[in-house]
Amino acid sequence: MTDDERFSLLVGVMGAGELWPVPDERIPPGVPMSAAYVPGIPRLGVPALLMSDAGLGVTNPGYRPGDTATALPAGLALAASFDPALAREAGGLIGREARSRGFNVQLAGAMNLARDPRNGRNFEYVSEDPLLTATIAAESVKGIQHEGVISTVKHYSLNGNETNRHWLDAVIDPDAHRESDLLAFEMAIERGAPGAVMAAYNKINGDYAAANDVLINGVLKGAWGYRGWVMSDWGATPGWECALAGLDQECGAQIDALLWGSEAFGDPLRAAHAEGGLASERLSDMVRRILRSMFAVGVDRAHVGPAPDMDAHNEIALRIARAGIVLLANRGALPLAPESSPRIAVIGGYAHAGVAAGYGSAAVVPPGGYAAVVPIGGQGLEAGMRNLYLLPSSPLSELRERLPRAQIEFDPGLGPAEAAMAARRADVAIVFAVRAEGEGFDGADLSLPWGQDAVIAAVAAANPNTVVVLETGNPVTMPWRNSVNAILQAWYPGQNGGRAIAEVLAGVVNPSGRLPITFPVDLGQTPRPELPDPATPWGTPTTIDYFEGADVGYRWFAKRGLAPMFAFGHGLSYTRFEYRDLVLGAGDTISASFSVANVGDRAGADVPQLYLTSAPGERCSRLLGFERVELEPGATRRVSIEADARLLAHYDGGAGTWRIAPGGYTVAVGASAVALRLAGGVELAGRAFGR
Ligand code: BGC
Repeated sequence: MTDDERFSLLVGVMGAGELWPVPDERIPPGVPMSAAYVPGIPRLGVPALLMSDAGLGVTNPGYRPGDTATALPAGLALAASFDPALAREAGGLIGREARSRGFNVQLAGAMNLARDPRNGRNFEYVSEDPLLTATIAAESVKGIQHEGVISTVKHYSLNGNETNRHWLDAVIDPDAHRESDLLAFEMAIERGAPGAVMAAYNKINGDYAAANDVLINGVLKGAWGYRGWVMSDWGATPGWECALAGLDQECGAQIDALLWGSEAFGDPLRAAHAEGGLASERLSDMVRRILRSMFAVGVDRAHVGPAPDMDAHNEIALRIARAGIVLLANRGALPLAPESSPRIAVIGGYAHAGVAAGYGSAAVVPPGGYAAVVPIGGQGLEAGMRNLYLLPSSPLSELRERLPRAQIEFDPGLGPAEAAMAARRADVAIVFAVRAEGEGFDGADLSLPWGQDAVIAAVAAANPNTVVVLETGNPVTMPWRNSVNAILQAWYPGQNGGRAIAEVLAGVVNPSGRLPITFPVDLGQTPRPELPDPATPWGTPTTIDYFEGADVGYRWFAKRGLAPMFAFGHGLSYTRFEYRDLVLGAGDTISASFSVANVGDRAGADVPQLYLTSAPGERCSRLLGFERVELEPGATRRVSIEADARLLAHYDGGAGTWRIAPGGYTVAVGASAVALRLAGGVELAGRAFGR
């Protein structure tokens, strides 16, 4: 390769779309554009890299007129299934739809730990737990790459809040980082072998993610031996020196010019090379990493794939929605009795039109287009992407289809008084509540917007048999929770979400989702009741000290002895499960086996979870393993789990190794992080391992 050819692979430019309406002459006409284009080298048979978002389906922010794709449920919904096989299928779907359009890089694998329930992007992510996050992210990466499309994992690392993300310094104890967000990346990379890693926007401990020598050269490429390439997030390459810290490719280069005054890996990097600042070995390494992943994943093959079976993909979206809906509370209201002919008031949440979806770079236009788009707007680069998207799967019509004998009335839920009148006329009131959340913006609190909390309270006061369905990307505080009879967490349930919700309400589907994040009573229970300078204008440097370290989510609640509103791992069913006969083994790690029995009268899926509850000198709570088990009534299954030794250990940065302390360890099998039902203890010999 000539140096010109080498340099050409290091810059990805955005096409003209909604966010960036300026055509770039570096992109040849006719290229199926999306998030970025990197020219190929025809002389050597190296294809161009065509990159698209992302993990909830192939996005189209105005690039390809009329093109639509399967809009999957939120990452949190997929995670709530606790079903790695389903994540693999989701990945396969994305890979096929990407490849049929000629894309060979999907910017998927969004997997920052959900540290803060205000984070606008949690809906794209997986969970607050490293093991669950890594398991789901790795399977979705494998599904995508199996189709010959490179997947990233992102955003490396600690992009835990959105507001002011370009100016945010995320501070954390480095060892605690290894045990939390970095452990999730480490395990996902081992299992999923993503071709690329996308660095975050924020700084970590003072250095920008893309300029973070400790994290990229030190941890990712050094300790973990990662062989793929590291790309920047769009407009997150503050200078050519990022190449020295380990960044291999600048993406969304035009935004760098806007934010930092110039693109970084074009002329500045060439000049640095000419002047000796960038060694030729490093230039070769950057290029080799990109080419290596293209070969490893099969991007070197002729690329455009066949048109996928969109009906089959619609079915996958439905299965994820069904498996991801979490029944949070049920005082006998659900399932609705299909044989009776009740009067049902369906209230609010645009339930007549569709279901809510998150906004930002992950937003997917579904086949047939959105049911509606409500522009919200705001301050900053991402303001134009801030919308309430409604996907066309109307819970109201789906309920009517499933309950033909019911008399169903719809009230838009515009205000408490009108909604209460509709509720009074009905035997059961079902209130739908939505929250628009997405990239670039954190929520200021955990309330429902647009007066929906007041509507629910009024409906519950008017009708003692009230059911609430939440279409949100995060926990909400639910001040009305004790006066309603059932609460369903539907997340952003994707293009078939209305149907899945109706099926769960009507009892056609037995709910089986489990919470991948803790629902706190209020922000006061979380590590940061107040974010620093919440009123800071866009563009002002801020620091967030993630002082909770590795005690993210349920681990924080356990350490502080706090009782959440709904615990990590919680989710109800229309049947009942029992756990029996726990047998533990100990050696290099802990293994456990136990039986799960369906002792109710319906088929259903359960997700028994194994937690570490104490280690020498330490009370703790750490998820060691889980399995989703489908059981007919009366059936029993044996589950075996072997813990990844890192989940029992602490990281010792001084010695550069993981360390298991010698002594007694206790574990428990639970239906959530707090509903622990079987417990036992083992002794482990101490040992050090890994880097
Ligand atoms: C997001 C990334 C995304 C990229 C390209 C950025 O704003 O943070 O997750 O992949 O845009 O669209």
